[in-house]
Amino acid sequence: MSQAIIFGSSRSFGKTRAVIDDLLSPSKINLFDLNSYKISPFDYDHANRHDDFMPLIERLLHYDTWIIATPVYWYNMSTQHKIFFDRFSDLLTIRKDLGRQLRGKKLFVIASFGDSYPQGFEDTFKQICDYLGMAYLGSSFFYSGSVNQEYLTNNAAQARLVSERLSINTP
Ligand SMILES: Cc1cc2nc3c(=O)[nH]c(=O)nc-3n(C[C@H](O)[C@H](O)[C@H](O)COP(=O)(O)O)c2cc1C
Repeated sequence: MSQAIIFGSSRSFGKTRAVIDDLLSPSKINLFDLNSYKISPFDYDHANRHDDFMPLIERLLHYDTWIIATPVYWYNMSTQHKIFFDRFSDLLTIRKDLGRQLRGKKLFVIASFGDSYPQGFEDTFKQICDYLGMAYLGSSFFYSGSVNQEYLTNNAAQARLVSERLSINTP
C-alpha cells in the first residue's frame, strides 16, 4: 500500500510537522509540503491551469492513500489545504481524466490543534470523500499545547489510531 503525506501549514517546520515527523518519519512515507508548490486559489476562468496544482495531482495519483496533515486554524483546515481542495473543482471540469482517478483512493487526516478539541472538523473530509468516491479512513487530532492534561493523554490514543488506520508502526 503506497502512502503520501500532503502537508499544509503556515509554517513548514511548526507543530503539525513535528507530529508528522514523530509519527510517520520512521515509516519513510513521502511528504509533499504544499508550501513548496505554487498553487493559486480556484479561478472560474482556469487562468491558473498551468500552476503547480496539476503536476502535483499527477504525482499524488501514484499513491493509494493520501494522508492530509493540517493544523486546525479557526476550527478548519489550513488555508493551504483549503486552496488545494478548492482546486479539485478543476478535476471535475477541465481535467476530468485526473478527477476520475481519485475514485477509490483512501484519505486519512492528521490534524494538530492547540486549544479546544475540534468539533465537526472531519465532516468536511467525509463529505469530500463521499462526493469524489474516495474511501475515508478517519481523522486523528493531536494536541500541541501543554496545559490540558486530558488532551495530552489522549495523544497516545490518537497515535494508536494512526497506526491502526494506516497499518504502520508508530512510536
Ligand atoms: C491562525 C490560527 C488559528 C488557530 N485556530 C485554532 C482553533 O480554531 N482551534 C485550536 O484548537 N487551535 C487553533 N490554533 C492553534 C493551532 O492549531 C496549533 O497551535 C497547531 O498545532 C499549530 O500548528 P502549526 O505549527 O503547523 O501551525 C490556531 C493557530 C493559528 C496560528
